[in-house]
Amino acid sequence: MMPRVRSDTSEPVHGGADPAELARFGLGPGDVLDFSANVNPFGPTPAVLRAAAGAVIGRYPDRGCGDLRRALAVRHGVTEAQVLVGNGSSELIWLAAVAYLAPGDQVLVLGPAFGEYERAARLTGAEPAACRATAGDGFQPPLARFEQYLREKTPRLAFLTNPNNPTGQMSPPDHLRLLATRHPQTLFVVDEAYADCRPSPDEWAATPAANVVRLRSMTKAHGLAGLRLGYALGAGEVIAVLRSVQPPWSVNAAAQAAGLAALRDAAEVSLSVAAWAAAAAELVSRVRAAGFAPVASVVPFFLLRVGDARGVRSRLLREGLLVRDCASFGLPEFVRISARRPEENARLVEALVRVGVEGGLCRD
Ligand SMILES: Cc1ncc(COP(=O)(O)O)c(C=O)c1O
Repeated sequence: MMPRVRSDTSEPVHGGADPAELARFGLGPGDVLDFSANVNPFGPTPAVLRAAAGAVIGRYPDRGCGDLRRALAVRHGVTEAQVLVGNGSSELIWLAAVAYLAPGDQVLVLGPAFGEYERAARLTGAEPAACRATAGDGFQPPLARFEQYLREKTPRLAFLTNPNNPTGQMSPPDHLRLLATRHPQTLFVVDEAYADCRPSPDEWAATPAANVVRLRSMTKAHGLAGLRLGYALGAGEVIAVLRSVQPPWSVNAAAQAAGLAALRDAAEVSLSVAAWAAAAAELVSRVRAAGFAPVASVVPFFLLRVGDARGVRSRLLREGLLVRDCASFGLPEFVRISARRPEENARLVEALVRVGVEGGLCRD
């Protein structure tokens, strides 16, 4: 007899290049331009690279991430007890699920959304449901329907992404704050992984509500995807609960050093994010000029309706260009494209036009 399996063990689907898949196309990681992961194409700043390379790796890292936590508290105008650093914001999503969910609990997701919310919820035995934005509404977040569900089901956890992945839409932070005030029995996990990817992010007021935890990623705007770094901001009680279920040493020494350096290098990071936003704006207008209809987005990635997203992804991959097939978001007609450097974006537009001419691509 096989050992009992706890629950749903399906493989998650994410962006980013998978070396095993690339090998099937006869490609190595260096042969591919990755438009599928929403990561700053200008990479970490030189000071951040130096800090990561200089980290002491012969001893255990600071489990409490003290220096980084203090710097983050200053950045956000909160106390150290209101910050928890994690191994990417993904870890913090899982900590929220492990700490707060039990079998049978209701979980609400503002969709379409990052797959880890549902995956983490299911593995605890909870029952996730999604309230989804639709293409017909321009992917506007369906906040009225979302609140109706909150009223009817009183979910234990509600996951919202702001700005949203994959739609690139923003919910007004004040509206989310009101929802949290009106539904105190639900813990709102507001995933702001992409907040720093905008030149001027909308910030919440500093005072954390007792039932809101905000997650931030330092892998996207700061280009630290391979190091893994994120953090949670929330009321001290919520942060203490998340910390109580965190595996020890999950944030390595190089990630802590890089994070600190990135905060010190904020001016340089802002310039790089502004360049990314400009590259995205240029890419969107080129895509539009080529006859396609990109979905408007507040972040440097956007949805594009292409018809058979899986087929289009494969055809582009053969040319060494990787886009995100959005079937796993429930959007099999869309790909998601994250802007890269201008010259790389130009290559993608040329390839899209070629694929379109071959007849595989739908134009609106
Ligand atoms: C909405 C959202 N949240 C969290 C993450 C995870 O980011 P991290 O690299 O910080 O774990 C992603 C990654 O794609 C994401 O899209």
